[in-house]
Amino acid sequence: MSREPATASADPEKTTSRAQAIAEVAAYLVASGVAPDEAQEDSRALLRAAAGLTRLQLAMSPQAPLAEAEAERLSRYAARRAAREPVSRILGERGFWTLDLVIAPNVLDPRSDTETLVETTLALVEKRDAPLEILDLGCGSGAIICALLSELPRARGVAVDLSADACAATAENLARCGFATRARVVRGRWGESLSGPYDVIVSNPPYIRAGDIPALDPEVRLYDPALALDGGPDGLDCYRDLVADLPRLSKPDGLVAFEVGCDQAVSVAALFGDKGFGVARVGRDAGGHERVVAARPAPTRS
Ligand SMILES: C[S@@+](CC[C@H](N)C(=O)[O-])C[C@H]1O[C@@H](n2cnc3c(N)ncnc32)[C@H](O)[C@@H]1O
Repeated sequence: MSREPATASADPEKTTSRAQAIAEVAAYLVASGVAPDEAQEDSRALLRAAAGLTRLQLAMSPQAPLAEAEAERLSRYAARRAAREPVSRILGERGFWTLDLVIAPNVLDPRSDTETLVETTLALVEKRDAPLEILDLGCGSGAIICALLSELPRARGVAVDLSADACAATAENLARCGFATRARVVRGRWGESLSGPYDVIVSNPPYIRAGDIPALDPEVRLYDPALALDGGPDGLDCYRDLVADLPRLSKPDGLVAFEVGCDQAVSVAALFGDKGFGVARVGRDAGGHERVVAARPAPTRS
């Protein structure tokens, strides 16, 4: 078992500088299985939080001594990170798009990958100041609906999740971002209880193949809820459920955008096609992987 860092020194005469504490925590995290580049970044973030410092304050005085209370807080954070809890969960916060969101236990920690869904959707919205009705299916922390409302000033939203914890987190984040009066949160199964129609429908549903879940990183497997991950045997179960409601929920000139797993874009495009939707754009992440399929109802021939 890896040894805990000596940040909270037993010897009151011995002081540890911020830079030493960062190095000790990083070494402890690497010994606990965290990748070295992540361990460095994480130990800095944990130290900044433990000592209440901005990036600039830390950069200006890395040799300043760590106060005892700060060192104790850092040790507690480090032990949690060594148990592979993500930094965002330890600190209860994560930056997403331009927003600072609360991260709640038992609710998916939103990934930066999902910003590709926000970007792709916004790129296809023709008038950003239009009074659009947006539906976010499987809202989790509310990351997507909050990001869209932040960019579409006259839009209103409905955010749905089956998980009560996710609904509470979305409501909290909507309030935190100042959007509580522009969106409502509904607990339920996808679009089951809704009638619509909506201008924009977005979803980042669970899409991991059930058989792949045991091999996920501990940060995901141990801390993200199974309800947010498990896409069934081929990873596509939720897309099949979601597309079934689209003809009812989408306006004839509406837009639908789904985040997809790296190898799922073709299959999801086919599911859209089965319901009479044509692909409008495939969004790629920073690594060039196809991660979003956006579609519109195909015009009906008279
Ligand atoms: C991958 S997470 C995405 C969360 C959030 N939209 C994000 O991008 O961070 C999928 C979400 O779908 C929700 N979910 C799973 N099955 C559902 C269902 N049948 N109806 C509604 N929500 C569901 C989960 O609770 C989870 O919050």
